[in-house]
Amino acid sequence: MNEIENQAILFVGGKGGVGKSTSASALAMMYAKSGKKTLIVSTDPAHNLGDIFHINIGKGKTPLLENLWGVEINPEMETQKYINGVKNNLKGMVKSSMIDEVHRQIDMAASAPGAEEAALFDRIVSIILEEKVEFEKIIFDTAPTGHTIRLLSLPELMGVWMDGMLERRKKTNKNYSQLLNDGEPVEDPIFEVLQKRRDKFARVRSILLDSAKTGFIFVLIPERLPILETEKAIEMMNKHDLKIQGLIVNKILPPTADGSFLQKRKKQEKDYLQLMKRKFIEQKLYQIPLLEEDVCSVNHLETFAQYLREEVYRGV
Ligand SMILES: Nc1ncnc2c1ncn2[C@@H]1O[C@H](COP(=O)(O)OP(=O)(O)OP(=O)(O)O)[C@@H](O)[C@H]1O
Ligand SMILES: [Mg+2]
Repeated sequence: MNEIENQAILFVGGKGGVGKSTSASALAMMYAKSGKKTLIVSTDPAHNLGDIFHINIGKGKTPLLENLWGVEINPEMETQKYINGVKNNLKGMVKSSMIDEVHRQIDMAASAPGAEEAALFDRIVSIILEEKVEFEKIIFDTAPTGHTIRLLSLPELMGVWMDGMLERRKKTNKNYSQLLNDGEPVEDPIFEVLQKRRDKFARVRSILLDSAKTGFIFVLIPERLPILETEKAIEMMNKHDLKIQGLIVNKILPPTADGSFLQKRKKQEKDYLQLMKRKFIEQKLYQIPLLEEDVCSVNHLETFAQYLREEVYRGV
C-alpha cells in the first residue's frame, strides 16, 4: 500500500456491511506489525473491534496486539460528557436564579438533531490532536457512508456556526455583564470557551485537509449501487476539498468459486471492475477476494492484509 501508507491519519468509510471494520483492522494490524505504534478508533455505535480481535474494549485505549491499541467511541456517552462539560464551564458564572433555566436550555440542545454528531466530532478532534503525539498511525473505522460524510463536513459547518456564535457573544457581552455581575463589566468566559473550541477545530481542519497527513479510504463491493454511491461520496468529499485516495474493492469472487450460478455473477463483477477502473481514475483500487470464512481472527486479518500489501489480486 505505497500510496496511502505515509499518512499518519486514515479514515475508512463506505456503505454498511462492505468490510470497513475488517479493512481498518487489517490496515491497523499491518502497520502495527511493521513496528509503527498504531491506534484504531471505532466511531460506529455498533462497535465490533472487540469481536474482531476477541478482546473486550473498555472505556479508554485498550491494547489489542503488540504496537496496536483500540478505542470505541460511544456517541451517547460523548454527548452526555459534552453537556456535563458545558454545564461545569458555566458553574459559578451564572446567577443562581438563572441556573435551572440555563440547564434546561443546555439539555434541550443535547437532544437537538446533530448533537450526537457534534459530540462525536468533538471526540474525534480531541483524539487527533492528543494522540498524534503518541501514535504514528491513527485509523478511524467509521459508520456507514452518509454519516461519515456528514461528519467530515462538520468542521466546515462548525466553523460557520462558531463564527456566528462568537459574533453573537460579542454583541451580548454587555447584557451578559448584567446577568452575571449585576452590571459590573466582566470577562466573558463563554466567549473564551468558544474561542478555544474554534482554534481547536481550525487546527484539526487543516490536518484533515492536508493529504500528506490524512488519507481517506472507501470500501465497496463490486455491485452497481455501491459503485454509484461511492461516486457520489467522492463528489461530496471533493466539495469539501477532501480527497479519497484509495478504494478497497472487497468480496470479489475468487477463481475457485465455480458453478454456473457463480459464473454469471463473476461475469457481472468483471464488468463492474472495468467500470470502476474507468470511473475512479484518481483512486487506487485494492482488490480483495471473498474469503472462505468471515474475517474474525488475527490469522484471517493477516490473509486480508496480504492482499492489501500485494495489490496483485486479479481473480476475475
Ligand atoms: N473479504 C472478505 N471475505 C469474507 N468475509 C468478509 C470479507 N470482508 C468482510 N467480511 C465479513 O463481512 C462481514 C462485514 O464486514 P465488516 O464488519 O468489516 O463490515 P462493515 O462495513 O464494518 O459493516 P458495518 O457497516 O456494519 O460497520 C463480517 O462478518 C466480515 O467478517
Ligand atoms: Mg463496521
